[in-house]
Amino acid sequence: MTKKRVLTGYRPTGRLTLGHWFGNLLNMLELQGPFEAYYFVADWHALTSDWQDTHAIRQYAEENVLDWVAAGIDPEKSVIYRQSDVPEVAELTMYLSMVTPMPWLERVPSYKEQREQITDKDLGNVGFFLYPLMQAADITIVRGDVVPVGEDQLPHLELTREVVRRFNNQYGSLLVEPEGLIAKQGARVPGTDGRKMSKSYGNAIYLSDSEEETAAKVMSMVTDPARKLKTDPGDPDICPLHQIHQLVGDPADVAEFDRCCRVAECGCVAHKRKLIEDLNAYLRPFRERRIELAEQPGYAWEVLTAGADRVRPAVEELMGTVREAMHIDAGR
Ligand code: TRP
Repeated sequence: MTKKRVLTGYRPTGRLTLGHWFGNLLNMLELQGPFEAYYFVADWHALTSDWQDTHAIRQYAEENVLDWVAAGIDPEKSVIYRQSDVPEVAELTMYLSMVTPMPWLERVPSYKEQREQITDKDLGNVGFFLYPLMQAADITIVRGDVVPVGEDQLPHLELTREVVRRFNNQYGSLLVEPEGLIAKQGARVPGTDGRKMSKSYGNAIYLSDSEEETAAKVMSMVTDPARKLKTDPGDPDICPLHQIHQLVGDPADVAEFDRCCRVAECGCVAHKRKLIEDLNAYLRPFRERRIELAEQPGYAWEVLTAGADRVRPAVEELMGTVREAMHIDAGR
């Protein structure tokens, strides 16, 4: 039986964080065996919002690959590539734009929200408007069956499905309607300030931070705000420190800190020291591997070049059928 295809993309806007790790990466690792996995760096998607400041996109693409491979995304098993190395994605985006009514894009929730909330970037460009349609092209160009995403991306999947149906109605059943897969263990990781961990909040712990950087960040973390003194009992359920410890600590240790916090037998500083130790131990194998990979000049680009070569046949095959169905082929 041929395996189904899983596909997901990351925008290269910074190094990967603990939020990526528990929210999505662990699932991507698991899906590598049972599925044919396509994991790509969505550099054109980064352009849609960051077109005024593009200097770091290439560097972040490279770091993204190092982070993935160090985490265990295996370039032999998974096809790791860069969106812009598959220019047909732009061509397919254009074809899809022909069948897509403008209101379908205007009503995408992330579009409306980001236009309202992001004020430090100019998002009035057509490229940003096309964001979800380019995502639909990313997915359909490799016949992706399953797309592991966070909840916020579900409307993009829904739009993709609608566009696929409309396209297939018009030109014949050429494109696959993908399914969204909500990460089963997709833990939401709090940042150092207790809000969702995100680069843009400045509260992120990066997988590739040094042990010292990790220690400094953990020491600065907020805990139960109502616990002012060590003698006040605390509530671990609302403590970001505790939430991260649950993900990386030994369950017996985590249970003990839960208990002693509630009865004010131990303080937050002791808990922070323990989390630093456990988190650094948890990430040590990743970090050692990440450093080894970073020492090999050009490694990430080799991975991306090989990935682009592997994705090309599938892309050419699909685009051939699409052009033919739309009468944009050679016609000779
Ligand atoms: N929109 C995704 C994000 O913001 C990135 C992305 C681009 C993507 N193309 C995709 C995800 C295709 C899944 C499938 O994280």
